[in-house]
Amino acid sequence: MKPTTPPKTYRVKSFGCQMNVYDGERMAELLAEKGITPAPEGEDADLVVLNTCHIREKAAEKVYSDIGRLVKAGKEAGREPMIAVAGCVAQAEGEEIMARAPAVSMVVGPQAYHRLPEMLDKAVAGERATDTDMPPIAKFDALPARRKIGPAAFLTVQEGCDKFCTYCVVPYTRGAEISRPFKDLVTEAQKLVEAGAREITLLGQNVSAWSGEDDKGRTTGLAGLIRVLARVDGLERIRYTTSHPADMDDDLIAAHGDTPKLMPYLHLPVQSGNDRVLKAMNRSHTAESYLRLLERFRAARPDLALSGDFIVGFPGETEAEFADTLSIVDAVGYAQAYSFKYSPRPGTPAASMDGQIARDVMDDRLQRLQSALNRDQLAFNQASVGKTCQVLVERKGKHEGQWLGKSPWLQSVWFEGDAAIGDLVEVELVESGPNSLAGVVKG
Ligand code: 5AD
Ligand code: SF4
Repeated sequence: MKPTTPPKTYRVKSFGCQMNVYDGERMAELLAEKGITPAPEGEDADLVVLNTCHIREKAAEKVYSDIGRLVKAGKEAGREPMIAVAGCVAQAEGEEIMARAPAVSMVVGPQAYHRLPEMLDKAVAGERATDTDMPPIAKFDALPARRKIGPAAFLTVQEGCDKFCTYCVVPYTRGAEISRPFKDLVTEAQKLVEAGAREITLLGQNVSAWSGEDDKGRTTGLAGLIRVLARVDGLERIRYTTSHPADMDDDLIAAHGDTPKLMPYLHLPVQSGNDRVLKAMNRSHTAESYLRLLERFRAARPDLALSGDFIVGFPGETEAEFADTLSIVDAVGYAQAYSFKYSPRPGTPAASMDGQIARDVMDDRLQRLQSALNRDQLAFNQASVGKTCQVLVERKGKHEGQWLGKSPWLQSVWFEGDAAIGDLVEVELVESGPNSLAGVVKG
């Protein structure tokens, strides 16, 4: 590679989960520290970071086509951008990307992106660089302070996963479970609030496995962290995602009842409603134990909104087994959910299992599952009409005087009136659609 002039502008394109969004923000902060500024909307950037996701379908192909598109546009404009590939595809296929895509100058894994500035210096000198090391936690200490942030911010508290669900690449791309230290998290939460956050979502691939030592040296789980964060002045709302049913302890259930700042919303993936499929997935719960767990959460917080993840067409899934998934959906009544067709991930046990399901069968099951989930989401929204709640204003609406924010149950709510981004406004919910509600300001 030829030496090049240092980039002046950057764009970080994040795909996939909220942890990638968080990582993308932090990479942007690192670049900003080097004096590189975000490329204005609609303009080409000198440096493009593709922050990739490997969880489903053709992730790598998508990266190569994105790279191809960037190179072509750059050639047409007479100025090719510097390209960095980050995220889980970088971790899983870094060497291959370097070999196949000469336009890429940096490949950086999710545990190594704090080294982006050094890699950038090398790239400017004409040297391609790959870093997919997985050192525990070092990254966070090396990151710059948080910049200005929106009212609803993310905070990664835990990374990696030890669960090894048989379909999932996360334990391979993100590595073993690690928890960030308590003290660092409290400090970062305070910084986020100083930078404008009023709501913080604690993130982790398996967030409920977080554990640490509090300021008195006692070992504490996620609930202990939440209770301490609830005392941060100016922080009004706390959420967390994503959880595994096996790691939900009594204290976390209790926190939903005794910590008002912890919002009444729980994302708890079940994946399937059938016990044979759950076992083959290496999920350590059954349909019954999952439902019993939800009952305990609902007893602590009766208005809890539930969300989940589902996979249809796991190898060997029969029509009757899929029907059990529809039954658990009926039994829970989710406020919101994510559903996916099973996608074989290279290197995972399920990818080589017998009984891979035909695409049209998966399409049909996904459609039936989604219509049940959509029905329940609409029903949940309709049942909210008439309630008065606080809405955290996140942005302006399309029309003058219109605002968009989130209810405690994570519904999008529109309303008109006097407000500003970051306000918590008391609103009566008056009308519902499948994806949002309309509200009227009270008082
Ligand atoms: N195929 C389809 N969906 C998957 N997920 C994870 N791995 C796969 C896969 N191989 C889904 C799960 C998980 C969510 C983040 O993505 O539902 O909870
Ligand atoms: Fe993947 Fe299972 Fe870990 Fe979730 S709990 S990240 S699905 S291995």
